[in-house]
Amino acid sequence: MWPHIDSGSDRCVLVDQTVLQLVDMAKPIFVLNGPNLNLLGTREPDVYGTATLDDLRNLTEARAQTHGLAVDFRQSNVEGELVDWIQEAREVACGVIINAAGYTHTSVALLDALQAAELPVVEVHLSNIFRRESFRQHSYISLGADGVICGFGAKGYGLAIDVLADIIKSRDT
Ligand code: DQA
Repeated sequence: MWPHIDSGSDRCVLVDQTVLQLVDMAKPIFVLNGPNLNLLGTREPDVYGTATLDDLRNLTEARAQTHGLAVDFRQSNVEGELVDWIQEAREVACGVIINAAGYTHTSVALLDALQAAELPVVEVHLSNIFRRESFRQHSYISLGADGVICGFGAKGYGLAIDVLADIIKSRDT
């Protein structure tokens, strides 16, 4: 028998896990980018590559589409705005991919927001932060992430979509 939702009463309702999964997949993945990433393409291309932020947007949207998922791609130079977006994700997104850029190494507020979101989270960095200055080798937000992808440039964003799609699809099954 098909599971059904009996919205008109307060009776206990059985909803099939597949239905829950489909409802969740209708929500977008939030791809959040922190400060100075608006300058990608021209900002230290030897470190961050030549892909622009628009290139990353196109790449993530196309890759998400192959998984039947949508992307809401954003960038801000303002810490509080990123916190607001993570809080928004808590309500409307199925997962978060975040390159917090410089805030990675300073922001307890972003970590708190990610932990409160209770969503699958993938942290991404274009550069290999473990092969750089020592202050870049610690990430506050990693404590709130399921995993970290770094050092593979723009490709890392595609990998993040793949792994997040996997988590979302395997969850609840
Ligand atoms: C970065 C690494 C950070 O240390 C740096 O502050 C950035 C970009 C990366 O993608 O490699 O702005 O997150």
